[in-house]
Amino acid sequence: MLTPDIAIIPEHVAIIMDGNGRWANKRGLARTMGHSKGVEAVKEAVRTAGDIGIKYLTLFAFSSENWSRPEAEVSDLLGLLRRFIRRDLAELHRENVRIRVIGEREKLRGDILPLLLEAEETTRNNTGLTLVIAFNYGSRDEIARAVSRITQKVKAGLIEPGAISSEMIDAHLDTAGIPDPDLIIRTSGEERLSNFLLWQAAYAEFVFMPDYWPDFDRALFIEALKIYASRDRRFGGLSARPAAVVG
Ligand code: FPP
Repeated sequence: MLTPDIAIIPEHVAIIMDGNGRWANKRGLARTMGHSKGVEAVKEAVRTAGDIGIKYLTLFAFSSENWSRPEAEVSDLLGLLRRFIRRDLAELHRENVRIRVIGEREKLRGDILPLLLEAEETTRNNTGLTLVIAFNYGSRDEIARAVSRITQKVKAGLIEPGAISSEMIDAHLDTAGIPDPDLIIRTSGEERLSNFLLWQAAYAEFVFMPDYWPDFDRALFIEALKIYASRDRRFGGLSARPAAVVG
C-alpha cells in the first residue's frame, strides 16, 4: 500500500467517533446498524494508523455518560466491543498492536472487564501501534481518581503536598506513560470535547470533520492528518517553522 505524502506524522491521534446514530437514521436504519458499521470504521482506522506509522491511537469507545442510553443500545455497544475483542484480538496481536484500556474499572460488572484485561495482557509486549481504548471513560472522573490516589500518598507521608507537579498528575492518570495526543479528531460536525482527555488535550490540535463516523475511511483519516501537518504548533512559545512556511 502506498504511504501517503504527509509532512508531519503525529505520534498520538485520539478520535471521538461520533455520528453512528445519525448515519443510520439518514438511511432509515436502526441505530445499531450505525454502531456495527462504526466497528468496520474502527478496524480501518487501526490499519491506517499502523500503516502510516502513528504510534498511539486512542478511540473513545464508551463514555461514563453512555450508560444513560436506552438499555438495548448500551447492550448493543457492549456486544460490539465484546465481539471486537473476541474476534479481532488474535489479528491485532499478529499485527504487533499493543492494547491499553483507559477509564474507570472498579465498578464494572460482568465479562467486559476480564476481556479488556485479557486484551491488555496478551498484547503487553507488542511493539507496534498502541491502541488505547477509552471505555467507561470520563475525563473529570479520571482526574478525580488521580487526585484521590495522590492524596492517599500524601496522607501516608509518601508525598509532600509541595511536591505535587503536573508530571506527578500525569503519572497518576489512566494515560500514565502515554504521550499527550497531538491531534484530536471528532467526526459528525460536533465541535466539543465531551469530557474526553481534558488534561491531556492541553496542546492538542483539533480537527472537526462533518462526516459521520461510519464513513470515516483511510482517505478521511489522511485528510485529517494533512490538516494537522499544515498547522503551526507553538506550545505557548514562538513558531519553530521558518517564516516563509508560516507566512
Ligand atoms: C457515537 O455515535 C458513537 C458511540 C457512542 C460509540 C462508538 C462505538 C463504536 C464505533 C463501536 C464499538 C467500539 C469499538 C472500539 C469496537 P452516536 O450514537 O452518539 O451517534 P449520534 O450522535 O449520531 O446519535
